Amino acid sequence: MISVSNITKAFGTVQALRGVSTEFPERNTTVIVGPSGSGKSTLLRCLNLLEVPDSGTLTIDDAALTFPARLSRADRAQAADASTMVFQSFNLFPHLTVRDNVALALRQYIRRNRDALVGDVTGSATELAQQIAQDRLEQVGLADKGDAYPSQLSGGQQQRVAIARALAVSPTYLLCDEPTSALDPELAVEVSRVLIDVARSGQSLVIVTHDLAFARRVADRLIFLDEGVIGYDGEPSGFFGSTDPRIRDFLAIFEI
Ligand SMILES: Nc1ncnc2c1ncn2[C@@H]1O[C@H](COP(=O)(O)OP(=O)(O)OP(=O)(O)O)[C@@H](O)[C@H]1O
Ligand SMILES: [Mg+2]
Repeated sequence: MISVSNITKAFGTVQALRGVSTEFPERNTTVIVGPSGSGKSTLLRCLNLLEVPDSGTLTIDDAALTFPARLSRADRAQAADASTMVFQSFNLFPHLTVRDNVALALRQYIRRNRDALVGDVTGSATELAQQIAQDRLEQVGLADKGDAYPSQLSGGQQQRVAIARALAVSPTYLLCDEPTSALDPELAVEVSRVLIDVARSGQSLVIVTHDLAFARRVADRLIFLDEGVIGYDGEPSGFFGSTDPRIRDFLAIFEI
């Protein structure tokens, strides 16, 4: 499990996180919401050390990192194994097919984990990567798009490829930063559906989103960040029914 205790992070004079403590239970979906600039992306990025906190403690399983810390290669590797990020802007390689985009990160992963990968594994790392990539594409409903190039896909399909790519390396947590906000509404719905399926499969998820309808459907737990502090952390129903004026003001923007 990943947890944070009293995490702070500043960018120059901007205090993005002002002491955040919470846990991200495994096999659960935690959704982070809050106004623009409240620190949501920063918190998510701290979980896999894309941002390094200034102070506080990040605990991944039984390994605690207290900041400021000198991060070893092993610390970074552990954080990278524990979680993989899905970005708003997909970040696919345009010159690689969809299947190769998914397979690329996998080849290295397979070389490192060959002994742990059981089953009828006889072929080369490349062949195995292609096979796992195809399975993941199937999981996101894109089994027939493996040979296409990203430019031949809709934005929603490209984001589903990015989700398949992130899942391919079997991270404990999938971290998603506004996975649907670059998409037209009908494409956003198809990506949301895939993420709901992924959540139902037991995958541990942390999702930052502005889509409160989606948040309500997918969240087991909901965190409301406001100016770098947690304003709510608990059951989604308690958030949507809250009488806290800050939460009511936030929900009023979305007419909820
Ligand atoms: N790399 C950076 N350099 C400077 N300031 C940054 C950087 N990243 C974030 N910030 C600042 O830190 C604060 C929190 O940013 P963050 O991106 O975490 O907010 P957010 O809640 O994700 O916002 P949004 O909903 O707009 O994505 C903001 O004031 C932002 O301008
Ligand atoms: Mg953000």
